[in-house]
Amino acid sequence: MASFTGRVVLITGGTSGIGAAIAEVFLLEGASVIAVGRNKYRGQLQGFPRFESFCFDVTSPAAIAGLRELVEEDYERLDVLVNCAGVAGERMPLAETSAEDWANVFATNVTATFEMMKALTPILSKSDQGRIINIASTAGIDPLPRSGAYSPSKAAVISLSRLYAHELATQKSRITCNVVCPGLVKTRMTENIPKEAWDAAVARIPTGRTTYLHEVAELVLYIAKSDSNKQVFRIDGGMRS
Ligand SMILES: NC(=O)c1ccc[n+]([C@@H]2O[C@H](COP(=O)([O-])OP(=O)(O)OC[C@H]3O[C@@H](n4cnc5c(N)ncnc54)[C@H](OP(=O)(O)O)[C@@H]3O)[C@@H](O)[C@H]2O)c1
Repeated sequence: MASFTGRVVLITGGTSGIGAAIAEVFLLEGASVIAVGRNKYRGQLQGFPRFESFCFDVTSPAAIAGLRELVEEDYERLDVLVNCAGVAGERMPLAETSAEDWANVFATNVTATFEMMKALTPILSKSDQGRIINIASTAGIDPLPRSGAYSPSKAAVISLSRLYAHELATQKSRITCNVVCPGLVKTRMTENIPKEAWDAAVARIPTGRTTYLHEVAELVLYIAKSDSNKQVFRIDGGMRS
């Protein structure tokens, strides 16, 4: 029997890029996967019988309440929550980042992660192996030049993940909380990076290549199978800003 047979995994941002790659590895391990995005999913995972995608905007408190209701009523359990939904925002110096963009990036990357963890903890705590895995970025450790609100938002995701892991552990919860920091990955989020900036970023990676989707997905699966807690997993080929 596959190791996640009978288990339910919810992935915000599971409708594209890194989140969809994470969805695939859990499907192959036998899990039922709920993928969430603002737009409808139209990829190859639709062929999996245990895959369902839903349109929810995680920056909306009403949507998060609706998502919690959906999990409780239609799935009746939750074993793994992956907060992967994210936006890059404007690529520019901090001094030129607009208040609107700052608020939008923090609402999606940080506040939604915080609200999802809070809303889903009661149902996750009923699992014998509840897992929260948040997707931050190597930019949250070494801030990337001209990344505007993005690097600070990912630093906040790392901090809130570690704090929540600490709180859960001190409450003797069975839920673990870890955070994954990918480096540069080819996805919709990075497709518009100008060639010059892309080449310069790849040149800062000692392995000389970007991180592959399946590498991030397999790391998330490994963490979900492990008892590790409060850890920051960097997967970026040694990239530095
Ligand atoms: N690609 C990289 O190099 C890289 C590196 C480090 C970390 N990351 C992180 O990895 C995560 C996934 O990014 P990606 O590269 O796979 O980009 P992507 O292909 O653009 O995926 C982003 C996902 O987030 C969803 N999303 C965005 N805002 C949302 C909202 N308000 N409500 C619900 N869903 C929302 C998107 O769906 P909709 O647009 O339909 O809402 C999509 O499914 C992000 O957190 C990103 O910061 C990426």
